[in-house]
Amino acid sequence: SQTPLIAPSILSADLARLGEDVQAVLDAGADVVHFDVMDNHYVPNLTFGAPICQALRDYGITAPIDVHLMCTPVDALIGDFAKAGASWISFHPEASQHVDRSLQLIRSHGCKAGLVLNPATPTHILDYVMDRLDFVLIMSVNPGFGGQSFIDSALDKLRDVRARIDASGRDIRLEIDGGVKVNNIRQIAEAGADTFVAGSAIFGADDYARTIAAMRDELAA
Ligand code: DX5
Ligand code: ZN
Repeated sequence: SQTPLIAPSILSADLARLGEDVQAVLDAGADVVHFDVMDNHYVPNLTFGAPICQALRDYGITAPIDVHLMCTPVDALIGDFAKAGASWISFHPEASQHVDRSLQLIRSHGCKAGLVLNPATPTHILDYVMDRLDFVLIMSVNPGFGGQSFIDSALDKLRDVRARIDASGRDIRLEIDGGVKVNNIRQIAEAGADTFVAGSAIFGADDYARTIAAMRDELAA
């Protein structure tokens, strides 16, 4: 299986000093920057667009930026974020009229393509698009806010999607997003996740390095 990646969500960062805070979390050992895009339409909250992604690149952030689009429509944003330095782009199938086309569009810009499954979204949506996917993102909260608690049915969904990925023989990452903490990350990894988004657990901690190291200890145990 794949090397575990830790992806702090900037939703919980200090937004008034975003560049500095993102650099700090990367210096503390994070692998990927998780970038939550909310449109007050697909989800009941509003965050940031492509110019902020570009600003992080201009500031000197070189780590992969994982853009999680909680927006509808999605297609126009794909090009905007790709040009602004996104590395990975994912969207919710309910938010795109043409899921296969949106996935192709992401790869056509040279980015890694992912689909996001909400807590109530079935996994068979993946059946005919496995060859278009670089990662699958399982939501373990309802999208829209940081700091919610982990929904346990996500563990069964992880096991289900892990089996599908393994059966496909493809190199597809399995990412989890929502309520990930030091005290549940091991169980989440055992269910099949290899990429771990954590917002409040990391940015809410006094010591980023210690928190990320504690997560890695749990993953290694
Ligand atoms: C929720 C977002 C998450 C969120 C995670 O809609 O997609 O990325 O920031 O935050 P925590 O880790 O606090 O649940
Ligand atoms: Zn997210």
